[in-house]
Amino acid sequence: MRAKILRGRVLSFNDAPKARDDKDCYTYIEDGALLIENGKITARGEFSGIKKTAPTDIDVIDHRPHILMAGFIDTHIHFPQMQVLASYAGSLLEWLNTYTFVEEQRFDDLAHARKIGSSFYDELIRHGTTSAVTYCSVHPQSVDAFFEEAAKRNMLMIGGKVMMDREAPASLTDTPQSSYDDTNALIEKWHGKGRGHYAITPRFAITSTPEQMEMAQALAGEHPDLHIQTHLSENKAEIEFANSLYPDAGDYFGIYQHYGLAGEKSLFGHCVHLEDRERDAMIETNSVAVFCPTSNLFIGSGLFDWARVAGPEGKGRIALATDVGGGTNYSMFRTLDEAYKILNLQGQRMNPLTSFYQITLGNARAVSLQDQIGSLDVGTDADVVVLNANATPAMQVRMETVTTLEEELFLMQTVGDDRAIVETYVAGEALKSGL
Ligand code: GUN
Ligand code: ZN
Repeated sequence: MRAKILRGRVLSFNDAPKARDDKDCYTYIEDGALLIENGKITARGEFSGIKKTAPTDIDVIDHRPHILMAGFIDTHIHFPQMQVLASYAGSLLEWLNTYTFVEEQRFDDLAHARKIGSSFYDELIRHGTTSAVTYCSVHPQSVDAFFEEAAKRNMLMIGGKVMMDREAPASLTDTPQSSYDDTNALIEKWHGKGRGHYAITPRFAITSTPEQMEMAQALAGEHPDLHIQTHLSENKAEIEFANSLYPDAGDYFGIYQHYGLAGEKSLFGHCVHLEDRERDAMIETNSVAVFCPTSNLFIGSGLFDWARVAGPEGKGRIALATDVGGGTNYSMFRTLDEAYKILNLQGQRMNPLTSFYQITLGNARAVSLQDQIGSLDVGTDADVVVLNANATPAMQVRMETVTTLEEELFLMQTVGDDRAIVETYVAGEALKSGL
C-alpha cells in the first residue's frame, strides 16, 4: 500500500471528558494531518510539519474543511437481522419469536449469509463504523460469511456464532456438544486471522440449557483472551423467564456469574433493569454494560439509567451500540441522538464531547482494544472517518449559527446520518467512495 497523507481538522480523544468544556480530553489540530503507512498512523500533527518530513511525491488527500476522527465502533449488532429491522412487535419475546427466529433460519444457507454479509459491511462503511461486535446466527457458515467479508475489507471485527439449544425453532438450535465443537472450530479458523476476533456467544440464558452454559464456561476457560457477548436484563418478561429457568442463580447476572462468564472481556447487551446486586457485581467483575438506545425505545424495553449502571463512583464500564435489527439505524449519530434523549428524560444529559468520546475511544476501551482502534494516535490502525457537519441543507442553515467545535459535534449527532460521513478509511484504504 502506498503511503498517504490525510489533511483535515484532526480530532482525537485522549481520555473521557471530565466536563462539558474539558479541552484536555482531546487533541484538535485545525490544519492537521495524518501520515498513513502500511495501514497504520505513523505520524500526526500540523499539516505543514507532516508534509515537510514525508517523501515529496506522497499522495495528499485534502479533506478540509471536514473533521478527521477515529472510525466509529459499534459494540452490539446482529448481522443476520438486516431483514428484521423495522419489524412490528410489542415486546422482546414477541419480536424474537415472530420475526427474528424466523429470519435467522435462512442463514443455514451460505449463499444467503454471504449476500447479507456483503450488505452488512457496506452499511457499516456507509455509516462510518469501522469495527463492530457482532452476533452471527447459530450456523457456523454464517460466521464464515461474516469473517470472510471482514477479511476482504481488512476490518477489525469481533463476532461469533450464537450458542442456543432451547426455546427456539428446532432448525435454529444446536446442542451443548455441537455448540462447543463448532465454536472451537470457528475460533481455530478465524480468531487472530487478519484483524478478526472471535467472541464466545451464548445468546442469552433463556436459549441455553445449563449444560450449554457449562460448555460456554469451558470455552471461556480454554480461551481466556476471547471476548464473550450475551444479553442481560433487557425486558421485564425476559428477566422473569430467565430467572425461572435458573431458580438457584439469585438474579439474571448471577446466572452468567455462576458459569464464569463475567469479566473484563464480557459484554452484556442492554442492562436496562438491573438490580443493585447485579450492578455491583458487574462493576466488581469489570464487566461491560452495553447501552442500545434505539433498540430499547423501538422494542419498548425501557430507559437505560447510565448514572445507576456507572455506579456511585462512576466505575461501571459502559459501551454504546446500535443493536440492529432490534435497533433501528446503523448510524452511531442516530444512536447518540436517542441516547441523549433517554438520558435527558432522566435528568442526565450526555455532553457532545462525551458522545464522540464514547463512539470512538470509549467503545474501544470497552472492548479492550484501545491500543489498536478508537483514536488517531500514532501506532494505531488507520481506521478514520471524515465528517461533514454541512451535509444537508438543514445542517447548512444551522451551521451558520454554530461557533464552537462542541456545537458542531452536537449538530452532527442530533440530525446527522450517513450523509455526514464523507469517507471511511479502513486500515488506510478509502472504502466508502468505492461503494
Ligand atoms: N435477546 C436475545 N436475543 C436477542 C436479540 O437478537 N435481540 C435483542 N434485542 N435481544 C435479544
Ligand atoms: Zn442483541
